[in-house]
Amino acid sequence: MTTPVSPYARILFIGPGLSRGASAERLRQRVEALMGEAHVHDSEQDLQPFWLALDESPRPLLVVDLEPRADAAHRDWLREQIAERTDGASVFVVCTAMEDAWLDGLAALLECPELHTACSDVPAVPAQHAWSHIPPHAQRLLLCNGPRCTRKGALGLWKTLRQRLKAAGKLECEGGVHITRSQCQFPCDLGPTASLYPAGEWFRVRDEAELIRLVDERLVAGRAVPELRIDKG
Ligand code: FES
Repeated sequence: MTTPVSPYARILFIGPGLSRGASAERLRQRVEALMGEAHVHDSEQDLQPFWLALDESPRPLLVVDLEPRADAAHRDWLREQIAERTDGASVFVVCTAMEDAWLDGLAALLECPELHTACSDVPAVPAQHAWSHIPPHAQRLLLCNGPRCTRKGALGLWKTLRQRLKAAGKLECEGGVHITRSQCQFPCDLGPTASLYPAGEWFRVRDEAELIRLVDERLVAGRAVPELRIDKG
C-alpha cells in the first residue's frame, strides 16, 4: 500500500516500548490514520523482525527511529547498519523522539525530504569512535532512574553525581567510574538505589548529601560507607 502523505512506498517505525502501552497504541492509530497502515517495531524486543521487514519492504523506504537518545552519531550508525545489511539504495532515515508535539507534526516531517538521510554512499564511520573500545574505567555505578526511584528524587541526583565525579577527575576515565542510569534495580522501597561493580555493593542515596558522601568517600577516596549500604555489607 502506498502512503498518501509521502513519496515513500513504506515507512518503518522503530523505538523503545512500541509494542505495548497507551503511547504505542496512540502512535499506531495516528500513523494508520495518516498513512493507511502502520509498520511499527519495538527496539526493546527481538530485532530480527525489523531487519527482515527492512529487507522485504518496497522502496523507497523511510525508517523513522524514535529512540529518545538518538543523536547525529546514532543516526550515522543506523545508516551504516542499514547499508551493511542491504545495499542501502532508496532507504532513508530520520530520527526523532516520540513526543505528542512530534506526532502532531508527523505529516510535515514526512514532507521534508531534506531531513531524510540516505543510507547509500554512507561515509565511513571513524574506526576509533568511543563505542568501539572496552572503556578503561575501574568501576561502574548504576544509579537507578526507574519509576519509583525517580519519584523519590533520583533524576536530580544524576546531575550531581556526574558533576561531582567530574570535579574529582574520576568521571569515565582510566581508573575512574563509569556511571549509568538504569531502569528499576528492584529494591525500590529502599531507594533511590545505586549499585557498584565489580564490588557488587548496593547503596541508598536518599538525597544529595548521601550522594555526595557516596562519591567522595566510596568512589573517590575508596573508603567503605556502611551507613549507605542496603545489602548486608
Ligand atoms: S525504581 Fe529504583 S529500584 Fe525500583
